[in-house]
Amino acid sequence: MPKIFVSRALPQSAIQMLIDEFSQESVSVFPEDRVIHRDELLDGVRGIDALLPILTETIDVEVMDAAGAQLKIIANYAVGYNNIDIDAATQRKIPVTNTPGVLTETTADLAWALILATARRIGEGERYLRAGKWESWAPQLLLGDDIHAKTLGIFGLGRIGAAVARRAKGFNMRIIYNDSTRKDPALEEELGVTFVDKPALLAESDILTLHCSFSDETRHAFSSDEFSAMKSTAVFINTTRGPVVDETALALALHAGEITAAGLDVFEEEPKIHPELLKCENALLIPHLGSATKETRAKMAEIAATNIIARLKGGTPPNCVNPEVL
Ligand code: DGY
Repeated sequence: MPKIFVSRALPQSAIQMLIDEFSQESVSVFPEDRVIHRDELLDGVRGIDALLPILTETIDVEVMDAAGAQLKIIANYAVGYNNIDIDAATQRKIPVTNTPGVLTETTADLAWALILATARRIGEGERYLRAGKWESWAPQLLLGDDIHAKTLGIFGLGRIGAAVARRAKGFNMRIIYNDSTRKDPALEEELGVTFVDKPALLAESDILTLHCSFSDETRHAFSSDEFSAMKSTAVFINTTRGPVVDETALALALHAGEITAAGLDVFEEEPKIHPELLKCENALLIPHLGSATKETRAKMAEIAATNIIARLKGGTPPNCVNPEVL
């Protein structure tokens, strides 16, 4: 009977898939709805065949060694997998899987929610109203920036970046992008996007939204040099991973008016928020909600379960990010 450890309660449909395939006794779910403590994680993984972690857990050599040599898969409950030491898993021949595809549209929706809300100062407006400060309609009250017909800059034109671009068509925007490599001209044409180098992306974007993945190359890809190269009217959006942005530099840029506003779903040291960012009225801050819809979170859990089932039944997990181990 294989042993599967799920580190946090997930949508029941996925847990049921595992139970139906194996047995109730096979599946152990950490019983409390909070971040599992490190010692509880090390304890929970002992002797397991499959681990289903979430992105708040660091899955490193210590966790893999605590699990033991029979660990056959780590099925992350996220599309990003920077919480997992992939090299260590690969050395141990453990496949790591993620949940691509299902959260693309949902995360693009959220990026657009932030674009609209940040440019139109929705967060500030709501705080102002609830504080009882609204006395009358006023010609100069909380003026934001138009979005339609502006230039949208996309940094990282992967699945989510492309989905964000598709939505921009409805706003009649010029869309420019930068990525480590230029995309297929057919995709560029379909999306109506133009490749530019990073300096041009910084100089020309009215709204700049990040959709690159996080790696050593993209750590602090946006710091003081980048913010000072942007338009003072620019709106900056991050829904990818916090450490892509140097938050100290971002807070300084927001305070100094080097850019006009920022909408952030992710942070360098989640859930800790940089104290200077908290002081910025022109920063809209939300708690990593990119994929947070009922439908998508259920699908993500089901994908993780599908990968575990495939692997433990001797098949190929469909979403393996280190396929060389298979
Ligand atoms: C992911 O899957 O990587 C997302 O950040 C979760 O919302």
